[in-house]
Amino acid sequence: MTTRIVPSVLPADFSRLGEEVRLLEKAGVDRIQWDVMDGRFVPNLTMGPDVIASVRPLVTLPFEAHLMVADPDRLLPRWLDAGCGMVIVHAEAAGHLHRTLGDIRERGGSAGVALNPATPPSAVEHVLDLVDLVLVMTVNPGFGGQRYLPSMAAKIRRVRELVDATGRDIEVDGGISPDTIGSASAAGARTFCAGSALFADRDAIGERVAELRRLAA
Ligand code: DX5
Repeated sequence: MTTRIVPSVLPADFSRLGEEVRLLEKAGVDRIQWDVMDGRFVPNLTMGPDVIASVRPLVTLPFEAHLMVADPDRLLPRWLDAGCGMVIVHAEAAGHLHRTLGDIRERGGSAGVALNPATPPSAVEHVLDLVDLVLVMTVNPGFGGQRYLPSMAAKIRRVRELVDATGRDIEVDGGISPDTIGSASAAGARTFCAGSALFADRDAIGERVAELRRLAA
């Protein structure tokens, strides 16, 4: 089972984002997650596609855009044009999830669907043929540094069953740290998005990535 460590750039120092993404590449992460927030779907506002495009040339790491936005169709092509090979939309935000996921794939992207803590796995049952990734939120989206929700374990297990049947991936996102990654992994997660746990000590970020990878195995 391949374990993937995917940093969220939410805790990064946005005044030196280029250096931060280079640091992450050097630290041996598998790809980078851009937490896109519009201030409507979640009570926070972060970056647009131009910010992502500005650092795209600096690293070869794959980028995934996690769209915590009320209308994911609105700027869809721009996340792909900015260099995000994967676009993850929230099941709760997409008015026509099946069509949006198909649109991402028709434009050459990999498609992911994110589930907020209260959203059941059944929300993805009829679109599994269109997704490459199911992102299980283990916090309520909007901010980094929140506590991991252990109550998501049963949901992770169910989503793992669903993705195993179709060869897709399952990623967990929120509150992932050395203290919580073991239970997330035991529940069936294979890819782990972490923000504050990785940026806590930039001088040792490589060691923290390796530690999370070891604890997830
Ligand atoms: C929350 C974001 C998460 C978060 C992860 O809305 O989607 O990616 O930034 O940060 P930590 O690891 O600090 O919970």
